[in-house]
Amino acid sequence: MYMNIHFIFLQSQIISHYKAKEVTNPKEEKMAESKENQASMHQEVGHKSLLQSDALYQYILETSVYPREPEAMKELREITAKHPWNIMTTSADEGQFLNMLLKLINAKNTMEIGVYTGYSLLATALALPDDGKILAMDINRENYELGLPVIEKAGVAHKIDFRVGPALPVLDQMIEDGKYHGSFDFIFVDADKDNYINYHKRLVDLVKVGGVIGYDNTLWNGSVAAPPDAPMRKYIRYYRDFVLELNKALAADPRIEICQLPVGDGITLCRRTT
Ligand SMILES: C[S@@+](CC[C@H](N)C(=O)[O-])C[C@H]1O[C@@H](n2cnc3c(N)ncnc32)[C@H](O)[C@@H]1O
Repeated sequence: MYMNIHFIFLQSQIISHYKAKEVTNPKEEKMAESKENQASMHQEVGHKSLLQSDALYQYILETSVYPREPEAMKELREITAKHPWNIMTTSADEGQFLNMLLKLINAKNTMEIGVYTGYSLLATALALPDDGKILAMDINRENYELGLPVIEKAGVAHKIDFRVGPALPVLDQMIEDGKYHGSFDFIFVDADKDNYINYHKRLVDLVKVGGVIGYDNTLWNGSVAAPPDAPMRKYIRYYRDFVLELNKALAADPRIEICQLPVGDGITLCRRTT
């Protein structure tokens, strides 16, 4: 079944993290919390930087990101900041990175899996030419609709084909149709981490040779380098193994070249070579 039970689990974990901060082992929780208190010194919404210095991250935002952030993206970021699940949003520095990358590769036909309120979607839509296209998928339409008025005002909504529902069956359908092989210039994956391997199996077929797939959260809050018994939040621990498995699989895949960047929560770029 493709329905994303695990993602619902993740969301409930995130919410409980904000509401109650409950965990199983009190000692483990205390350690996790102390680490988290350091992390929560980062005040920015969508902050997922793995930089050890808050001041340095703030410097990047204030010097290079916010002064150049398009007005629409700022507005969407501020709307998203008021939403209870705002931890899910793409950070402003990662949005800027995606926007630059898409322009560098002259992307025109793109896909996004995991939209939420649409910050990365808007960063993409603003980077594409006027006849550019984004096939955007999410199991939740309500959150997308929060950002949609801003996307419309920015004059880029015509580039977006939003489909509500799990992404995997859509990918299967596209592969079965046979019309979409090697047709995407760029694909951004920022959804259910336990399906990333399943996405990869299909996306390598759908992205063109020379095109790029970006997998988000591949450093998973830094947990990928932590010892297995290190204290960590339940949802971090739950998805960690999937992220570790994905990272190994990408590194071993001869059909792609990869580059893992510590932007946001870690993004791995995969360029299809064959
Ligand atoms: C981290 S958020 C995406 C953040 C978004 N890229 C942004 O810039 O704000 C993950 C999203 O994935 C969606 N999602 C979870 N499982 C999914 C699935 N199977 N198919 C499509 N979307 C899914 C969730 O509803 C959620 O909105």
